[in-house]
This record gives sequence, C-alpha cells and structure tokens, in this order.
Amino acid sequence: MERTFLMVKPDGVQRNLIGEVVSRFERKGFTLVGSKMLAVSKGLAETHYGEHKEKPFFGELVSFITSGPVFAMVWEGENVIAEARKMMGKTNPQEAAPGTIRGDFGVQMSMNVIHGSDSPDSAKREIELFFNESELVSYEKTISTWV
Ligand code: TYD
Ligand code: MG
Repeated sequence: MERTFLMVKPDGVQRNLIGEVVSRFERKGFTLVGSKMLAVSKGLAETHYGEHKEKPFFGELVSFITSGPVFAMVWEGENVIAEARKMMGKTNPQEAAPGTIRGDFGVQMSMNVIHGSDSPDSAKREIELFFNESELVSYEKTISTWV
C-alpha cells in the first residue's frame, strides 16, 4: 500500500487547521499511520527542501518552515501520493481550486497551509527524513471494507 508524507505548515498550525486537514484525509478514507508535532531545524528544512536550493525563494521558504511548529504525518492508501496532491490543490493558493485545502484556506504562495510529497521517490525520502520506522504503525481497518 502506498504511503505519503504530509505536513501542516506553521501557518496551518497557528490557524488551528490541523484538525481540518486530518479530517479531510480521514473522510476520504486514507489511513493515518504516523504523526507528530515538531519544530523543524534549519538543517532539516534545508535537506527537506533541497531540490529548491538554487531558487530565489529558498531563503524565505526555510525561514517560514522553521518559524513555528509543524504537524508531520504519514498517510497510507491507494494512490495516496497523487490523491493527496489533488486534495491540496495548486502550490499558489490563488490558483488552487475551491474545495482544495490550499484553495479553501491559503492566501499567499509561501503560506499555503500544507506540504505533500510529489512522487513515490520524494515520499520515501521525506518519510525517512521525518520518521523512524518505530513511529509508524501498520494496520488493517476491520470495521469496514468499503475503503
Ligand atoms: P514546490 O515544491 O514547487 O511546491 P509544492 O509545495 O506544491 O510541492 O515549492 C515548495 C514551496 O515553496 C511551496 O509550497 C511554496 C514555496 N514557493 C514559493 O514561496 N515561491 C514559489 O515561487 C514557489 C514555486 C514555491
Ligand atoms: Mg514540492
């Protein structure tokens, strides 16, 4: 079963949107297999966003993601990497469709509420960067076989 790494960014945490975000993925039918609050260090932020090192917004991105606690999560489910990206909406909240997390709650590009892995390779890399295997569970939902 596929897994992805999602993170409520400091703006989402401070706007009390953790429950809203978790609720959307729960209702969709995905399974939460790990989560924690943490303060992202500068080093972790630079590694996590390493692909953007040369971009003009890199400094602002690192300073934003380290500006307050984040809520990191691992979610499991069928095609969860791509589905989560759909549910998040476009990177720029002003272009994100209503009904998506960024479309419904985001206002500006840097403060776009949520991070989500963009491919199987980045999901694996990001899950390993933020979580130990012992912090993740694996279980079957026995209550319903619908999802
Ligand atoms: P990116 O990985 O391109 O977007 P996504 O989060 O949708 O995978 O960029 C990482 C973050 O960097 C993005 O969520 C917000 C920020 N960012 C900017 O501040 N300015 C920009 O021009 C871009 C492309 C991203
Ligand atoms: Mg990205």
